[in-house]
Amino acid sequence: MKVLVIGSGGREHSLVIACKKSPLVDEIIAAPGNGGMAMDADCRPVDVNDSEAIVALAKEVAADLVIVGPEAPLAVGASDALRAAGFDVYGPNLDGARLEASKTFTKDFLINNKIPTAWGEKFTDYTKSVNYLSNVDYPIVIKANGLAAGKGVLICQTFEQAQAVAKDMLIQNAFGAAGREILIEEFMDGEEASIMLMVSGEDYVMLPASQDHKRVGEGDTGLNTGGMGAYAPAAVVDEAVEKKVREEIILPTLKALKADGIDYRGTLYIGIMVLPDGQPKVVEFNVRFGDPECQILLPLLEQDPVQLILDCARGELKPESVRVKDEYSMIVVMAAGGYPDAYHKGDVISFPAELPDNVSIVHAGTVKNEAGEILTAGGRVLGVVANAPTLQQAKEDVYKVVEQVKWKNAFYRRDIAWRQLAREG
Ligand code: AMP
Ligand code: GLY
Repeated sequence: MKVLVIGSGGREHSLVIACKKSPLVDEIIAAPGNGGMAMDADCRPVDVNDSEAIVALAKEVAADLVIVGPEAPLAVGASDALRAAGFDVYGPNLDGARLEASKTFTKDFLINNKIPTAWGEKFTDYTKSVNYLSNVDYPIVIKANGLAAGKGVLICQTFEQAQAVAKDMLIQNAFGAAGREILIEEFMDGEEASIMLMVSGEDYVMLPASQDHKRVGEGDTGLNTGGMGAYAPAAVVDEAVEKKVREEIILPTLKALKADGIDYRGTLYIGIMVLPDGQPKVVEFNVRFGDPECQILLPLLEQDPVQLILDCARGELKPESVRVKDEYSMIVVMAAGGYPDAYHKGDVISFPAELPDNVSIVHAGTVKNEAGEILTAGGRVLGVVANAPTLQQAKEDVYKVVEQVKWKNAFYRRDIAWRQLAREG
């Protein structure tokens, strides 16, 4: 089978690695790809915001399966266009992709279907939003409605801060079209976890719960990033929480999608906050694998992830069939100095000559030059992944390799999984 993977990040490199290991796959095309994917796949240029260009490429390479990695092509209807052209596609159509592309749509969806979430109100009018903000408890959360690369969510401690954010979004257009409508939301104080489902219609498999580390600094401080590291399984989602997630969140969500006529095929990422009383509430939906969560979840599957992806794409998923290894997986993201603000590109990366069997390196912002060297080309440059029987062991194995990957001004967090490791004592 020929598989076309759309995207260029760590998530997509891990999908390419899964394809490389799969007995189902003979040829992998990645578009546009990155330096790591260039070693494992045939990389082709493509504008991921251009559905027609993606369809043209799928036709040119005669893909048997197209895996759409990031949200941007999903939000412009790439899956719809590919399906209309007869391809098997992993990734929802536009109607499903709205769950990530519009926070106000999702808030209405959650509230209308009585799915636990923070209360929220939407505004397009600045004066009305300020009136509202003068009568709420703080902290409060303000979100730009549209896609804003993880930067459109602000937690405001005071009315003055909140007013400034509302002004930025609704008047100054700081987030462009994404911020023309805002959602003002109750602040939830709890522990976050990511739940990744592979979905075909009302059938799904739930991958192990994971915990991402979105802040740039140790102890979860500093600016928000795309994600600096993650581990799975995350114990915060214990049996009781998982039961509530399945019954109170997943079942009504998939039922409501079906009732709305949406044939969802792809990943549904449910970001949850587990409150101190054990109640999980939805923070956000994403309509693709998490990055860096994907990089640790695929290696935890006992079976071939590509088979599951293909089954979802064809609407043939057998939900009882997922098998997960009795192991832990951890990824530490290595970033370019300065990220998530301005950073330098083009630095040569040096890698250890050999890797232990349980460790791999997944590329994100890298390019391969003509001399075959790998250079930095993004903020999140790469991730080191280790699988081990205990979380502590995974951590030790991952950091041993992290210390051997080098380029000028590289940095990483040293405390991935700190909450769970502290609890384990
Ligand atoms: P989102 O893009 O909606 O997931 O928001 C980004 C991040 O902001 C989340 O991962 C949370 O850490 C935080 N966040 C979003 N909404 C809330 C909320 N209602 N209460 C507390 N934190 C939140
Ligand atoms: N790791 C967070 C995300 O992919 O949205």
